Amino acid sequence: LYRFPLIKINGIPLMCHIANNWNSISAFLPDPSDLLIATYPKAGTTWVQEIVDLLLHNGDAEVARRAPTPQRIPFLEIHSPAPIPAGLDLLEKMDPPRVIKTHLPIQLVPKGFWENKCKVIYVARNAKDNIVSYYHFDQMNKTQPEPGPWDGYIHKFMNGELPWGSWYNHVKDYWLEREKKNILYLFYEDLKENPRREVERIMHYLDLSLSDDVISRIVELTSFKSMKENPMANYSCIPEEIFDKSISLFMRKGVVGDWINHFSPAQNQLFDEDYKRQMKDVNIPFRTKI
Ligand code: A3P
Repeated sequence: LYRFPLIKINGIPLMCHIANNWNSISAFLPDPSDLLIATYPKAGTTWVQEIVDLLLHNGDAEVARRAPTPQRIPFLEIHSPAPIPAGLDLLEKMDPPRVIKTHLPIQLVPKGFWENKCKVIYVARNAKDNIVSYYHFDQMNKTQPEPGPWDGYIHKFMNGELPWGSWYNHVKDYWLEREKKNILYLFYEDLKENPRREVERIMHYLDLSLSDDVISRIVELTSFKSMKENPMANYSCIPEEIFDKSISLFMRKGVVGDWINHFSPAQNQLFDEDYKRQMKDVNIPFRTKI
């Protein structure tokens, strides 16, 4: 019923309702004070959103118990028929400074973000854990195209056929622009390894200076355990017919290295060979274990 077909915009497959609303999305004009959190789907978007929201509110625990994430932090390109207000409709009702989330590859980000020199935080996750998380998500999220069997899914991922396109180009294109555009480029694995260090890195990027106690509280409120139990962060607000929680939870596992439990040795070899080919022109320090 809900599984939306994909339509390409500039060669990038997007869910049809995004593609059909493309003119409005690409014309969106942010305020210079707005902050964009950009990711390939399943790279740790929600985690970083929660950290940023708490940093901007001095670690006020009440913030983590306010409206659920999709309403606090609108998703730029997703709009109706989303089950709850989202996207441009919601953004227009909010006063800047706003925190906005997107999965768009850098070349599709509305030009206004660059013209207005908005801050942009990019979160990247190693390809193997990223695809595993996306595979589980595509099974439970009934708005995403049917993922099909795991073996075929690996090929779709390598070919850039999943919604929002190629993981390889996504992580590379933000990486190559990060200095020129003052993008804070974060890694999921770094956040897992040392969340406090990464929270402080984000704090400095936002020109904030919070006390050690507040930073500790933010680290605690944004641990996997806290967020999994927090109905305002764990997407339990999304109705069952959209997110089928009997298949998988949004806060599924939250670890580095779960790919080991999914890739056969042959799939792993194929994936590694293709990875070398697709990533040969850059050296992004991804880690598949910590
Ligand atoms: P898994 O499916 O591997 O568990 P996104 O928010 O970009 O959709 O990413 C979702 C992924 O980030 C899921 O990965 C989810 O469990 C993980 N995640 C969310 N919050 C996290 C946290 N606080 N700590 C670790 N992982 C987290």
